[in-house]
Amino acid sequence: MAKSKIFVALDVGSSKISTIFGDLDELGNIYVIGSGESTSKGIEKGTVINPSDAIRSIKESVTAGENASGFKVNAVLVNIGGQHIEAKKEKENISFSMPNKEIDKDDVNSLIEKINSKYQSDSTTILHIIPTKYILDDEDIVYDPIGLMGNKLTGEFTVITIKTSTYNNVKKIIESTGLKIIDTVVNPLASATSVLYPEEKELGVALIDIGGSLSDIAVYKNGSLEMLKSIPLGGSLITKDIAFRFKISKDLAESLKIHYGMASTDFIEVNDYIDIPFREDEENIRIERKDLVETIEWRLTEIFELLRKELEKSGLYDKLTSGIVLTGGVANTPYIKDLAERIFEKDVRIGKPKDFKCFSEKLYSPQYATAIGMLQFMSNTLEKTEIQYNSDKNLFNFEEMINKLIGKIKELF
Ligand SMILES: Nc1ncnc2c1ncn2[C@@H]1O[C@H](COP(=O)(O)OP(=O)(O)OP(=O)(O)O)[C@@H](O)[C@H]1O
Ligand SMILES: [Mg+2]
Repeated sequence: MAKSKIFVALDVGSSKISTIFGDLDELGNIYVIGSGESTSKGIEKGTVINPSDAIRSIKESVTAGENASGFKVNAVLVNIGGQHIEAKKEKENISFSMPNKEIDKDDVNSLIEKINSKYQSDSTTILHIIPTKYILDDEDIVYDPIGLMGNKLTGEFTVITIKTSTYNNVKKIIESTGLKIIDTVVNPLASATSVLYPEEKELGVALIDIGGSLSDIAVYKNGSLEMLKSIPLGGSLITKDIAFRFKISKDLAESLKIHYGMASTDFIEVNDYIDIPFREDEENIRIERKDLVETIEWRLTEIFELLRKELEKSGLYDKLTSGIVLTGGVANTPYIKDLAERIFEKDVRIGKPKDFKCFSEKLYSPQYATAIGMLQFMSNTLEKTEIQYNSDKNLFNFEEMINKLIGKIKELF
């Protein structure tokens, strides 16, 4: 049995807060052993707008996760995002005084240290320094230089930063709930980790996670991250449009969107009518489903057009051989792939988190791409560092649990 360790991912979104307990083993497998969720309050576009509401929603989600998994949590991986994230390319080098030196971890770390000191600022905080490639003696391109011999090492990195005040506020809120932060993962990177296939990253792909109030973009080409951006557009705009058009509450509008919504009127075969309770003591009102879908289509069209412009501005649009992968809650809208293909004029796939095991089918849905991606990001980090797994006492034995469950099912029959 492989050694393993439990990590908890806390995805603080603007619609929901998910707490996902993952058992990560040393072979890189992830077993989700429980999860909790709450409606998000006090968080919008990745920013804390009401601290006490935010703290309450986080606590509610964490408690639900603890009850479901049977484990208590005191430290979490947390996502971070919003409009103030930025990705920049950086290059650094070191020349060795000793000729033909064997490159070790310290040499790579000193390149990272150089970048760290370059970004010393009160207004920005570094979230990730991701190596793209290394160049040995100005000629050979290598992806892992450790153990090779050379006179000079150059490293190319993607540096992801966030506005320090945004980072500090999220950190403060999490810590106010009594939780410690193990690490932070930027939204688009987390979603891309759980949803994209290596060949898509190689050929060129844009991952777009459309949530409640943010559209997170990550573009990959030749296997490396080329662009990362977060735009304040999301599903709550669609809900607001529905509420405004039919003069109903946002809660009712959200429920209509989820139960009767579609991305395009092209797919309505017979126009239905929907009777909805208006206000207490007043008669039901009747709306045409075509009008509801039209409202969704207009707003989604606008969102996709803005996202296309953003990708075109980056100069990467024509390099997306694998097209677009849509994820996040909004990707659940029926026929969204068809509408997106019409506007992007590229292949579109709906991306769901993959490469993990879980009893609940629910977590294999687009809205969990970020939370699952955070666990996978951590798992990749564990492979590279020598973090201790729990060897003597296995906190959780997934196979044993499956066997017990199968036993229980057998007993029932
Ligand atoms: N079946 C569905 N049809 C249409 N929209 C849906 C469906 N399911 C969820 N959504 C929408 O997805 C959005 C929430 O997505 P998600 O859970 O990914 O957001 P979040 O992570 O909380 O927010 P953000 O990432 O923007 O901070 C909401 O606007 C919700 O209405
Ligand atoms: Mg999200």
